[in-house]
Formats: sequence, structure tokens, C-alpha cells
Amino acid sequence: MSADPIRVVEVPLVDRSYEVHVGHGAVTRLGSLMPVRARRAVVVTQPGLDIAVDPGIAHTVVEIGLGEAHKRLTTIDDLCRSFAAAGLARNDVVIGVGGGMVTDVAGFAASVWHRGIAVVHVATSLLGMVDAAIGGKTGVNLSNDDGTAAGKNLIGSFWQPSGVICDLDHLATLPEREQRCGRGEMAKYHFLTGDDLLAMSLTDRVARCVEIKAEVVAADEREGGRRALLNYGHTLAHALEASTDHGLAHGEAVAIGLAYAARLARELGRVGDDRVAEHDRVVVDEYGLSIELPQPSDPDRLLALMATDKKSLDGGLTFVLDGPNGVEVVPGVDPAAARSALATMP
Ligand code: GLY
Repeated sequence: MSADPIRVVEVPLVDRSYEVHVGHGAVTRLGSLMPVRARRAVVVTQPGLDIAVDPGIAHTVVEIGLGEAHKRLTTIDDLCRSFAAAGLARNDVVIGVGGGMVTDVAGFAASVWHRGIAVVHVATSLLGMVDAAIGGKTGVNLSNDDGTAAGKNLIGSFWQPSGVICDLDHLATLPEREQRCGRGEMAKYHFLTGDDLLAMSLTDRVARCVEIKAEVVAADEREGGRRALLNYGHTLAHALEASTDHGLAHGEAVAIGLAYAARLARELGRVGDDRVAEHDRVVVDEYGLSIELPQPSDPDRLLALMATDKKSLDGGLTFVLDGPNGVEVVPGVDPAAARSALATMP
């Protein structure tokens, strides 16, 4: 246990502002985040998480399946039937307890049940705490008929939570792979801000990531512009997740995507070798992540998948890239440059 006090970070969104409580033992604050008129809650979680939550009102626990294959519309259908069985009404609340997959799915189900009811997230993974549970992006993947992934988070909504808990005690038993995934998103924040996150205490580090995200979301909630910067490293990352059928986890893919974004920026004359080396040093040496493309990787498939990225407004290649003005959205990238940069990846 740390002596650090629980930090409260606000996501300022005028009439929908909410608090994120970050710290050891923060889950005891859950009751204080319940909407005042809620009489009943459905807690959405996953088998094996075994995290005790007490919202202070009547509640039922519903589990969704483990793994990306369950991040699909049929899971939303199942959840809505559970909401009906629990008698969840307009003033009631959904509580998502888990990693990014759970909070994305619980948030999406809350956003469509009775055309939208309150949701509160208890993020239990590092990636959930620093990214997925904050900012109101919810959704599921598009699936092929055989259940394999056809596109990451292509079906979803913007639906802000009423509050978020990041209890750092939940990280004590987090498997190394999930720690890595959180570090992939933190490395992204490093490049967006230059902050030395690793020099901070765990409470300050997670709270700082929440602050960075809150500030971007407050400025551009629906990703009309600046919020797209939070997708730094994500264009290749989403393609890698789909091409490996999620054999590569999101944060692992983001680490590779960051190294690729630097190489693509160099290919386009936006940065030099020094900046590529800096990306590799931070991602590999500081954050302890791999930047090697999974093998075999098919460049044609990766290019085709990258063109379907949600950032693309016209079916062309759009990336978030470093450059003389810092990190910015770059549309209309020449596929030949994207291919050449892939060929320079370790
Ligand atoms: N994960 C990127 C965003 O929330 O905008």
C-alpha cells in the first residue's frame, strides 16, 4: 500500500462533467459516484475478476465472456436482456467492472438501453485506467459470420460515464502482459506531452495520464480534431490486432505502432533518424516493450486494414505523425511511403 492520498481528476464537460478517483483503495468511493436517483444497478464484469464492489444500492452481477471474440453485438443483446430481467429503469445505472473490453461493452450497452442510462466504470487494468474507461468512447467490434474480427470498435457511441474509479490495488495482481498493454498507452502519452511519467509515483502517473486524456476530451469530445491525437500509434496497431485476430493485444500493438509512426514520419521527411531512435529508446528501453512486427506480416493486408481505420475520412490512409509542429493528423499519406516504412520495421 502506498501512503499517497486518493487523487480526484475532473473530466470537465459542462453539464456532463465527472470525477475520476485514482488511488489505492479508491473502490470504496464507488457509492459516492452513484447517480442520486438510481435505485438499482447492474454490475457488468467478467469471470475470474473477483473484485468486490459495493455501490450502496440494490444490484445484480452479470458476467460477459473473456476475450475479444465476445466484444460483439450479440453480447450487447445478451446484456440488454439481463437489464430487462433486473428491472433496470431510466434513472438506474450500469457499473462496468473490468478492463477496457468490459468498460467499452458496458458503456455501449448503457448508451442504448432505454436510449441511454448512466454508467460508472471501475477500471481494473492499467490500460483501462489510463485510457479506455476515460472519455466516453464505447463500442464493440464488427465480426465476420464465423465470429472472427472484421474491424476493431467499428460499432459504438460516445457515452460519457458519470464517474470512474481507478483503484491501484487492482493492479497488484495484474498479469505482466496486461501491465505491458498499459505501458503501451503510457508511452503514447510520453510522446504527446514529453512528460516523464515513469519518474512519478504510481498514483501520480495514473492521475497524470487521466489528466492528459481529460484535457484532450474536454477540448474535442467527439473527435472533430484534436482527440484524434490520442490515436498516435493506433493506425498500424488496429491493423495488427485485426491481422493477428487479436493474438497481439492492444497495448502491445500500440508499442509497435509508435515505432512505425516514427518511421513513416521519417519516410515523409517530417522527422530525422534521431527522432526514430528516440521513439525506439523510449518504447523499448524505458517502457520495456517490443517494436518487432509479428511474423509473418503481409504488407498488402496491413495497408488494406489501415485504409479502413476510423480516422480515415475518405478511405485513404490517415495517420497521426510526429513532425516539425509536433504530433498531428496527416491525411492522404501515399501508400508507397506507408509500405516503405513497413519495410524498415524490425
Ligand atoms: N483511445 C482514444 C480515445 O479515447 O480517443
